Amino acid sequence: MNDLMIRAARLEDADDLNELANLPAFRHGTLRMPYQGVEWVKRRLEAFDPNRHFLVALKDNVLVGQGGLFRRQGRESHSGFVILGVHDDYHRQGIGNALLKALLDIADNWLGLIRLDLTVNVDNDAAIKLYKRHGFEEEGRQRAATLRDGELVDAFMMARLRQPPFVVGLNSESQGKSAPGDRRPAA
Ligand SMILES: CC(C)(COP(=O)(O)OP(=O)(O)OC[C@H]1O[C@@H](n2cnc3c(N)ncnc32)[C@H](O)[C@@H]1OP(=O)(O)O)[C@@H](O)C(=O)NCCC(=O)NCCS
Repeated sequence: MNDLMIRAARLEDADDLNELANLPAFRHGTLRMPYQGVEWVKRRLEAFDPNRHFLVALKDNVLVGQGGLFRRQGRESHSGFVILGVHDDYHRQGIGNALLKALLDIADNWLGLIRLDLTVNVDNDAAIKLYKRHGFEEEGRQRAATLRDGELVDAFMMARLRQPPFVVGLNSESQGKSAPGDRRPAA
């Protein structure tokens, strides 16, 4: 995976991101519409939002995946949700894993989020396996959540909870029993 680069999405990624969103397997696992136009992506990229962390993965300069972390506001500001998608021709090469790890690093080590959640179609075995591997657990099932190619599909709500960040200089008893290293799920 040395040739994989992960960086913040840029305005000039709009066309590539739109191509990604129009791929059939990508659409199958997400909420993207057929024939989605590039304006939709451009608008998202142009709207600056400090609570949105939108990453892309590039392999040999080809945009092969995207991932987003969105922090909620106010009394939900300890939480956020994630989205993820990899180019249809690049599945099972560790790209989704690398993107999710980068998003979790932001959430855990730079925002100190306690709760992260997402929704995933119940038949999306690849994504569910990946999310479980990173500590997400099923919390519930939304019935008939998404219309996909003429059929209504259920979705799982999944979430991952963490202890609040460790305070440097406070003894570990005042911060609960676990040390920071104990809180990281296996990647
Ligand atoms: C789900 C998705 C993001 C996974 O990305 P990926 O780059 O193919 O996944 P990785 O290669 O990083 O795989 C990481 C782990 O995920 C799991 N996984 C990924 N694809 C899998 C598959 N087809 N079957 C079973 N497990 C799978 C495995 O645990 C895998 O680890 P392993 O290869 O060591 O067994 C990708 O399939 C995708 O983009 N699908 C279309 C869009 C989508 O469904 N997005 C999720 C919306 S909730």
